[in-house]
Amino acid sequence: MRIGILGTGFMGTTLARKLAAAGHDVTVANSRGPETIEGDVLETGARAAIAQDAVRGADVVILAMPHPGFEKIRPLISALPEETTVIDISNYFPGRDPVNPELEAGKPETVWTQEFFGRPVAKAWNAIGMVAFKNDGRPKGEPGRIAVPLAGDRARDREVAMTLIDETGFDGFDTGELAGSWRQQPGSPVYITDLTHAEMGAALASAERDRLPKRRDLSAQVFAERVGERASPDAETVRRIARALFM
Ligand SMILES: NC(=O)c1ccc[n+]([C@@H]2O[C@H](COP(=O)([O-])OP(=O)(O)OC[C@H]3O[C@@H](n4cnc5c(N)ncnc54)[C@H](OP(=O)(O)O)[C@@H]3O)[C@@H](O)[C@H]2O)c1
Repeated sequence: MRIGILGTGFMGTTLARKLAAAGHDVTVANSRGPETIEGDVLETGARAAIAQDAVRGADVVILAMPHPGFEKIRPLISALPEETTVIDISNYFPGRDPVNPELEAGKPETVWTQEFFGRPVAKAWNAIGMVAFKNDGRPKGEPGRIAVPLAGDRARDREVAMTLIDETGFDGFDTGELAGSWRQQPGSPVYITDLTHAEMGAALASAERDRLPKRRDLSAQVFAERVGERASPDAETVRRIARALFM
């Protein structure tokens, strides 16, 4: 597939490396220009471009940036052909992101994203932490393979997300339409807790909507307390903290 990735931060870099290694025609863009994209992002075959060129003719566009970046790419995403699958990997963190009244009122984040762009948007990879995403992928069928929830209003977009998640080393878990995707947002039992496919159904069902924002904000404080202590928490530390707070 021809894949455009907008964002070359922690997540966009790993997505670019893995999806190009899987044989896809991957083009990446950030906000500053292709010359600022580090060589290691392109090591497995991805190409650097401006955002307009990264999305042109793409079968799949992945939004790998926080919400403040969305305004600039709004015309590009809104104008994509209907058949293009757009996947949002973002999470909302007030404190890092500007306060969004609709999300504060409980609108599922990717429902808001979909309305913002005025076209279908699927949700995937938001619930895997960057260190686990980079290091803990496994071949299909290997015991203990981590599952990654996905959602979307179009079955075809969910199928695409399922295939690509598998190619990045994880089991996709289809949670259905976006209306229920609050169950995979920060603070939920499946958020960066690295569950297997067999464990994920019960964990999704146990999510308590009203508690998610409080748990999300608590986790932001716990992780912030660790910044500077070490480079960044390893995957096992992230998993332990997330399981203690969210499950
Ligand atoms: N980090 C995680 O563990 C993790 C896991 C799952 C999901 N997420 C979510 O995924 C999103 C991205 O996270 P991240 O940690 O990868 O972020 P990040 O490291 O801060 O990187 C953000 C990237 O977005 C780019 N960007 C911003 N505005 C842009 C625009 N208008 N056009 C093109 N590129 C633009 C930035 O480019 P410039 O540097 O050039 O501005 C940068 O490359 C966030 O919403 C985050 O919550 C993160």
